[in-house]
This record gives sequence, structure tokens and C-alpha cells, in this order.
Amino acid sequence: MRDKWSSRSTFILAAVGSAVGLGNAWRFPGLAAKHGGGAFLFVYVLAMLLIGIPLLMMEIAIGRRTRQGAPGAMRAVNKTGEHAGWIAVSNGIAIGIYYAVVFAWVILMFLLSFKFAGFTGDTESASKLWITTINTTGTTSGFGTISWPVLGCLLIAWIACYLCIRNGTTSVGKVVKYTVSLPVICLLILAVRGFTMPGAMEGLAKLFVPDWSALGDSTLWVDAIGQVFYSLSVAMAIMFAYGSFVDEKANIAIDCVIIAVSDFVISLLAGIVMFTTMAGVGMLDNMSASGISTAFIIYPQAIVSLTKVPWINAAFAYVFYFCLITLAIDSLFSIVEGSSTAIADKFKLNKKKTTTVLCLIEGVLGLIFVTGAGLACLDIVDNFVNSYTLILTGIFEVIIVGWCFKTSKVLDQINLNTQNFKMPKWWFYLSIKFVAPVILTALFVWNVVSLFVGGGIYGAGDGYSLLSNIILGWLVMGLSLISGFIVKAIAKSGKKSAEEEAGWDDIKE
Ligand code: PFF
Repeated sequence: MRDKWSSRSTFILAAVGSAVGLGNAWRFPGLAAKHGGGAFLFVYVLAMLLIGIPLLMMEIAIGRRTRQGAPGAMRAVNKTGEHAGWIAVSNGIAIGIYYAVVFAWVILMFLLSFKFAGFTGDTESASKLWITTINTTGTTSGFGTISWPVLGCLLIAWIACYLCIRNGTTSVGKVVKYTVSLPVICLLILAVRGFTMPGAMEGLAKLFVPDWSALGDSTLWVDAIGQVFYSLSVAMAIMFAYGSFVDEKANIAIDCVIIAVSDFVISLLAGIVMFTTMAGVGMLDNMSASGISTAFIIYPQAIVSLTKVPWINAAFAYVFYFCLITLAIDSLFSIVEGSSTAIADKFKLNKKKTTTVLCLIEGVLGLIFVTGAGLACLDIVDNFVNSYTLILTGIFEVIIVGWCFKTSKVLDQINLNTQNFKMPKWWFYLSIKFVAPVILTALFVWNVVSLFVGGGIYGAGDGYSLLSNIILGWLVMGLSLISGFIVKAIAKSGKKSAEEEAGWDDIKE
């Protein structure tokens, strides 16, 4: 018997838990700061309506109909679709490996939060705590050294992740109640502090008041669309797997709107926390440095400037990093769940064993990010996956569903049992057939061009060695793209089961 969510709310919480992750806290506010506040929010909402929500509905609906992880689900749509599914699984594995390390850094900072008491007023020391503890060289050399504290935390991270998913939907269902509500509570506490700081209004103005001239900057569009994609956890094999555990009676259309809106609201809440706090400590201009540094370098400086009372600052540090822990864990386990579901379905393996082995393998591969070269390596992989493979996966998925299949069948599945809100045909078709393929392709081409043309980043002077770009960027991307062929070669010896050959219409209701 296939796993099923115990209730509708469990499914929604699990999907929200996956979507709401570190990206909401560290990418979203920084991008908004960089791109003219309200103008960025406007494009973000537009991209969510036209690309994010329809894609989310599509993945969940296909998962539910086929009761398979991403590759099996996409194969039922079209035989070549299986490849797109395996690329999504590869994205999930690559992201899972380094996300666990970021999660480990968060655990580390949580454990070290007491140190902020001693740093009161000393922004210099606060900003260095993370860098010195992870013992990074900042370059791609330094594989010989290892940060033991990070290694310890990585172990804790993977054990925690494993414990949450070892019993599939049953254990996930129990955990997500806490991992979704706790970060919201923490963010609300931090927001109250932010609001009571001088200059809070100035911070809010920077987040919400649009600077429309920013719309002319193409990087705003690139960043906003990329962020929608990343934030809703699509193209990572997660939502197919989560969809495959959804009950026939569920209303996918309305549930997906709830998931996307919750994700957006929590991003805004994180934005409010960041902008009011930074304005309060006079660091508003530092906000546009989006990226990992927001959580580990910039925010610590704000923490030690919050009050003159050391223990209160330390308490805020605990709340902040605890918030990040609860944000990260359910995203991490969702991504492992997505890949393990796909692999167990394909090879008819025991799900629990598959999950165990996958956690072990991903944990061991993550060791490279614990070395002195780890931060630079993580930066390279993160950029390649986000700028190229995720978007490419999205393109494949929408082209297969929009142009190589009867799109109406997927729409019917989305609207099955939906009374109050049906996904309108024009909206779904417009998005899946036209807007998403065109915009995502444009985005992909843009990213590839900026890779090579002057001022571009990776492979053309990103400051990291060419060899590391080739291995961690191009090779990882290449392996993802051919992963479907690799799996086929491995599976060749086994006979094809009836399930494997089943198309969309052969599946029993
Ligand atoms: N939506 C997640 C976030 O914003 O952090 C993206 C994600 C990343 C999901 C990593 C899962 C994951 F392991």
C-alpha cells in the first residue's frame, strides 16, 4: 500500500514546510533590497501567478494521478518525460547535499549563540564568528583541512533529517506541525522587536515602496523568477512525491494556492524582520548583499547592536537561529523524500532502506563542503543548479505537459473534486503552454549568455579556478542531464513491470 497523508492539513503543512525554507529568510529579503523593494514584490507576485502556482499544481496533480515519484510520474505523461524526472531527482540530490551543510552551519550558530552576549556592541567580532568557525579559505583550495565543529553539526543535521522521514508520511506528518508553526512564532517575536526599533518605518518603506525604475533592470526579472522557482520547491522532484501521497478527495487547486500564499506571506514576514531590524541598527544599506552572508555575517552584526544588555542579545540570537533550524529541516527532508520516493518506486526498493542509504550517501558527499574549500565549492554548485539545471528541468516539464500531452487531462486532475475554486483553463493553458516555456527559456539563455560574456560569472572569471568550475559546475550539470540514461542502463537487466509501462490512461482510478 502506498503511503498517504493522514489528513488534508498534513499535506498542506508538509508542502508549506518544504517551500518555506532558508530561501525565504536569506534570499528573498536581500533580493527585495537589491531590486527596489515594491517593484521586486510586484514582479515576484506576477511570476508566482503565471509560472509558480501553475507549475506547483501540475507537479502535485501528476504525482497524485500516477502515484509515482517524479520520473515514473513524468513517464506516464510521456515516455521521454522520465528523463526530466531524473534530472529533477538529480537537482534534489545536489541541493540536498549542500543544503544539509548550510543547515549544519545554522545548528552551529545556534549552539554558539551564547557568544553574542560577549560581543555586545562589537560588530567586527560578530561578523567573524561564522567565518572563523567554518575555517574556510574562501577559495577552492584547502581540501586538506576540515572544520570539526561543522562536521559534528552535519552529523546532527543528517540524523535529525533521517529521524523525521524514516517512517514516510507518518513521521513527516508529526514533525511538520512544529516545523511550520515554530518559525512563524520566532519570526513574529523578531518582528515585534523590529517594529519597536527607531527607523522601523524607513525599513518598511524600503521593502514595500516600489522604485519603479528598477523594472528596467533585467536582473530584477531574472532574480524574481528564479526566486519563485526556488521558493516553491518545484523542479526538485519534491512536489511529485508529495503529490503521490495525496488523497483522491483532495482539492489540489485550492491547496496549491494556500501553499503558495503561505510561502509568500512568510517571505514577507522574514523581509519585515530583516528590514526593520537592519534599519534600527543603521545597517539598511547592507541588506542588498543577498546570499548566505545575510544570515551568517550581516544579521549577527545586527544582533550585537540590538540592545546594550548582553543576555538579551544572546536570547535574540537563539531565537533567530532556532527559527532558521525549523525553517531548514522540513525543506531538507522534503528534498530527500523526493529523491528516495523516485528511486524506491523505480527499483521497487524498500522505502525506509532507500531513505537510510540516501541520507548516508548525501552525508558523505557533503564532506567536501566541510573542508577549507567548502564555502567556495558550495557557491559554485548552488549557482549552477539554480541558474541552469533547475530552470532547464522546468522547461522540459512544461514542454512535455503543454505540448506532448493532452494538457486538459492534467487540468482535470487539478480540478478533480474542486468545488469552490477551479483552476481556470485559460490561466493554466496560458501558463503551461506559453508563458512558462517562453519566459523560462529566455531566462535560461540569459543565464548562459552571462556565463560567457564579459561581466558574467561562472566559468568566466568568478574568482574560482576553472578546474573547480568544470568539476563542480559543468560535470555536476552534465551528470544531471544524463542521469536518466544512467538509470536506464542500471535498470536494463531487470524486466519492465506493468506499472512501468502504464501510460496516464492505463492507471486505475
Ligand atoms: N523552498 C526552499 C527554500 O526556499 O529554502 C527550497 C529548498 C531548498 C527546498 C532546499 C528543499 C531543499 F532541500
